Amino acid sequence: MSGHTIAITGANRGIGLELVRLFIARGDHVIGLCRRAGDDLPATGAEVIDDVNVTSSDELRAAARRIGDRHINILVNVAGILTSEDFDGLGDPEASDRILRQYEVNALGPLLATHAFAGHLATGSKVALITSRMGSIADNDSGGQYGYRMSKAALNAAGKSLSLDLTARRIAVGIFHPGFVRTEMTGYNGQLEPAESAGLLAERIDELELDNAGRFLHANGEVLPW
Ligand SMILES: NC(=O)c1ccc[n+]([C@@H]2O[C@H](COP(=O)([O-])OP(=O)(O)OC[C@H]3O[C@@H](n4cnc5c(N)ncnc54)[C@H](OP(=O)(O)O)[C@@H]3O)[C@@H](O)[C@H]2O)c1
Repeated sequence: MSGHTIAITGANRGIGLELVRLFIARGDHVIGLCRRAGDDLPATGAEVIDDVNVTSSDELRAAARRIGDRHINILVNVAGILTSEDFDGLGDPEASDRILRQYEVNALGPLLATHAFAGHLATGSKVALITSRMGSIADNDSGGQYGYRMSKAALNAAGKSLSLDLTARRIAVGIFHPGFVRTEMTGYNGQLEPAESAGLLAERIDELELDNAGRFLHANGEVLPW
C-alpha cells in the first residue's frame, strides 16, 4: 500500500521516527507531529508539524487546522513517556506528579489527538494506538512501575471505547505493543531495533480492518490479554 497520508505523533525519534521512515519509503505522505523537530525528522522528507504537545487540545487543534481539508488515511499515536515509581517511593509527592504526567501523556494524549484529528478521518481510515504490554493487568507478573502500567492500562481502555465509537464511522482502531525496543525510553536496552519494531507495527496496521479492530496485539501479531 502506498500513496496514503499518514499522521504520526512522537515522530521526532525512536519508534515514531522509524515509522516515518518506513512509510516515506513506501511512497506515503507522512505528517510528522512533534513538539520540536531535531535534525532527523525533517531529513526524512516528512511534512513536519511542530509545537504539538499531545496533552494540549489547543496545540492539537492548531495542528489539525494546518492539515486543512486533507484526509488522513492512518493516524498513529506513538508519543509516550516512561518513568519508574516503586511502592516504597509512593509517599514522595514527585512520584504522584510523575504518575499523573504519564497518565496525561500516555492515556489522555492519544485520546485527545484522535479526537482532534477525527475530522480528517473518514470511512476506511485507521487509528493505531501504541500502547505497552506493561498496561496488561493479566500479564503483570513483576509489580511496580505504577504510573506507566496505570497509564497504558487506561490507554487500552480508551482504545476499546474508541474502537467501538469509531467502528460506527467505519474507522478501524488497533491497540499495539511495539515489543521491547532499543530507544531512549529504554536506555537503548531491548530485543528489537526501532526499525524492526516499526516493520512489525506496519504489518499490524496493514492488517487492521473493521473486522479485527479493538484488539490488543503484540507487534509480532500475538493477541495480548487485557
Ligand atoms: N521502547 C520500548 O521498548 C517500548 C515498549 C512498549 C511501549 N513503547 C511505547 O512506544 C512509544 C514510543 O516509544 P519510544 O521507545 O520510541 O520512546 P522515545 O524514543 O522516548 O520517543 C518518545 C517520543 O514521544 C514524544 N513525546 C513524549 N512526550 C510527548 C508529549 N507530551 N507530546 C508530544 N510528544 C511527546 C517524544 O518527543 P520529543 O522528541 O519531543 O521528546 C519522542 O518523540 C511510546 O508510547 C512507548 O510508551 C515503547
